[in-house]
Amino acid sequence: MSMQTKLWIPEDPSNPKDQSIQEASDLLKQHQVVAFPTETVYGLGADATSEAAVAGIFEAKGRPSDNPLIVHVSNRDQVDRLVERIPDVARTLMDAFWPGPLTLIMESNGSAASNVTAGLSTIGIRMPDHPLALALLEAAETPLAAPSANRSGRPSPTKAEHVRQDLDGRVAGILDGGTTGVGLESTVLDCTTEVPVILRPGGITKEQLEEVLPEVAVDPALAAEDDHKPKSPGMKYTHYAPESPLWLVEGDDEFFMEQLEQLKADGKRVGVIASGELAEKLDHQPVIRCGSRENLAEVAVQLYDALREFKRSEVDLILTESFEETGVGAAVMNRLRKASVRVLSSS
Ligand code: TXA
Ligand code: MG
Repeated sequence: MSMQTKLWIPEDPSNPKDQSIQEASDLLKQHQVVAFPTETVYGLGADATSEAAVAGIFEAKGRPSDNPLIVHVSNRDQVDRLVERIPDVARTLMDAFWPGPLTLIMESNGSAASNVTAGLSTIGIRMPDHPLALALLEAAETPLAAPSANRSGRPSPTKAEHVRQDLDGRVAGILDGGTTGVGLESTVLDCTTEVPVILRPGGITKEQLEEVLPEVAVDPALAAEDDHKPKSPGMKYTHYAPESPLWLVEGDDEFFMEQLEQLKADGKRVGVIASGELAEKLDHQPVIRCGSRENLAEVAVQLYDALREFKRSEVDLILTESFEETGVGAAVMNRLRKASVRVLSSS
């Protein structure tokens, strides 16, 4: 596959009539695949009602076909046209968190292309909180199926440059809207059960959901050591992998430093991804800082960029610390566990 990939920086990013957005939406109407920013990560969009268009997403990403896609909408009427019915909890959540990083799983009515849902009876839908994404959805006049715009298995893109690294020559175009605000994907919440279930932690935290819902469950498959089959099909694949193997350290700073010294003594070239607090204590290069431990939202924003930073030729492995699993820290640790091939634990 090779095509000329257009790169646009819209002059008027919230205006559906902007020339770049018009060009991008024309390509979408021709069933082409276009990358665009959302508030979480960049998405790779195609007309969610066209099987041929959606097939282009799977091909460009190299994505397994049994992994369903999230459908992005710019208004509630589009939701009505995609689902069997909107459960009351889903309505409450839309009022509270849309537009925003929350994907709601509902019963599909079959109007989306069949490859969007990968054979499931349910469909995941969200309204992104990004002016450019909303303008593109308006201009395209259709819901857009959009997974994260990375090659399958790679860290999700938080900058247009990351999309270019992975998909140049494989997609019709990339709309550049700068760095994304949240940095991690949306929370995926199953609303088809009596008690809604978090299938993937993300930008809307469990604590936030609990403010508007009486009860929220977490898919048992998300627990660190669990061999339940995850209910979200995408959660079983290798994900977010940097070029060199990632090792996750669970323990205090002393333990981290011991592990690092041991690996260096064994002759390993180690790259470190650490909070500013830990980086301060280390007498080691190369280190990539990914924000403060006291500000997990900042860590979330910087994480995927950090995972893309070390090149295979530079380091044998990457060592990273663990973060507290409160708030968006739950999503940060979910991604680090999935990205890592090994956990060094002090307990
Ligand atoms: O923030 C996001 O959600 C980004 C931006 C682009 O919107 N998109 C994204 O899409 O992360 P993707 O394809 O990388 O991840 C979608 C996740 C996968 O784990 C998939 O299995 C799950 O959502 N999913 C989609 N539809 C589902 C369904 N009907 N039932 C269960 N899980 C579903
Ligand atoms: Mg993804």
